[in-house]
Amino acid sequence: MLAVLNKQTVGDLPESAIRGRRALVRVDFNVPLDEHGHVSDDTRIRAALPTLEYLAERGARVIVLSHLGRPKGKPDQKYSLEPVSRHLATLTKHGVRFVETTDTDEALKATHALPEGEIVLLENTRFLGGEETNDERLARALARLGDFYVNDAFGAAHRAHASTEGVAQHLKPAVAGFLMEKELRYLGRALADPERPFVAVLGGAKISGKIDVIEQLLPKVDRLLIGGAMACTFFRAMGLQTGKSLVEADRVSMAKELLDRGGDKLVLPDDAVVAPSIEQGSQARTVSRTAIPADQAMLDIGPRSVQTFAEEVARARTVIWNGPMGVFETKPFDAGTRRLAEAIASATDRGATTIVGGGDSAAAVTDLGLENRMSHVSTGGGASLEFLEGKTLPGVAVLDDARG
Ligand code: 3PG
Repeated sequence: MLAVLNKQTVGDLPESAIRGRRALVRVDFNVPLDEHGHVSDDTRIRAALPTLEYLAERGARVIVLSHLGRPKGKPDQKYSLEPVSRHLATLTKHGVRFVETTDTDEALKATHALPEGEIVLLENTRFLGGEETNDERLARALARLGDFYVNDAFGAAHRAHASTEGVAQHLKPAVAGFLMEKELRYLGRALADPERPFVAVLGGAKISGKIDVIEQLLPKVDRLLIGGAMACTFFRAMGLQTGKSLVEADRVSMAKELLDRGGDKLVLPDDAVVAPSIEQGSQARTVSRTAIPADQAMLDIGPRSVQTFAEEVARARTVIWNGPMGVFETKPFDAGTRRLAEAIASATDRGATTIVGGGDSAAAVTDLGLENRMSHVSTGGGASLEFLEGKTLPGVAVLDDARG
């Protein structure tokens, strides 16, 4: 049972409800493919394996649905899940088939032909016209593909689509998978009952995308550390010169209001790594936040700020991190993000609960090989952000409530 959201999970189903039955499992296999069409990061596939294998080992016939990319409601070979199914087959000892048709009647035949303990991945749900509009007819057709429904697609739970929300209205029981449960447990506990001190670190380019998260977190955290280019909008609100840095002029007054409200809780960088442009990294230098030159842009937080952030993180018992501290894809502007990630990993080693939001920060942690030194790295970018904003995720809300 989910401690926080009180939803049934696949672990609550009796084995008699699994064996021989068709388990319709929505996963988020929206993974990057390289230029040869091979899966280049299989984190999301591995993350769904515990649910798929749990069901297969108990004799279910496992029917898997996912989207890949944004093909706009019609088949587009570029977004076929076929390479993903080949990759999945290398990760599990259970048989994996692929059904390339988008005809739900043909898919239905394939689900009945599937032997117990085997897995079939159906073609991209976004090849289906009614998926993103949550068309009721499509939802009912998808519901016929299983005897019960499992949603393990945390990364797509903020989408009210036919395969994430509509289908669960017509196919019961509708329960959470183990990945979904883990995501909701970590993120939910941090919001509802965090061990203190509770420190949130937010970064990324724009404050506009993070306003609701800041609003939601500010009353709950002991410290809110702000890095990335979004710090510059706060600098402007403090009356500082920001040179060529990215500033959202229409958010400056909001930043000022947050500064007033946040008081000591809000911690901004006090130095910056600046350069004339991202391409001119060889000219990068560190300056105080009060001395950003007119012809330079802040592209990373400086070493003094990293030190302050690392000390705050070291004191924390719960850390949530979302968004890079600088342009981490490009050296030398990766240093702030790298050192912050290392500080968070050390906090985990000392027993803190550390949670990394999906998207860019998760990618940075994976690049640095630190994913196993975080308590939880979310597989959802937009979904983890919406969850932290306090929004209801439609793919979760529709699932069956836990009994008792
Ligand atoms: C993601 O990658 O964040 C999820 O798979 C959702 O994808 P979407 O933003 O295309 O809905």
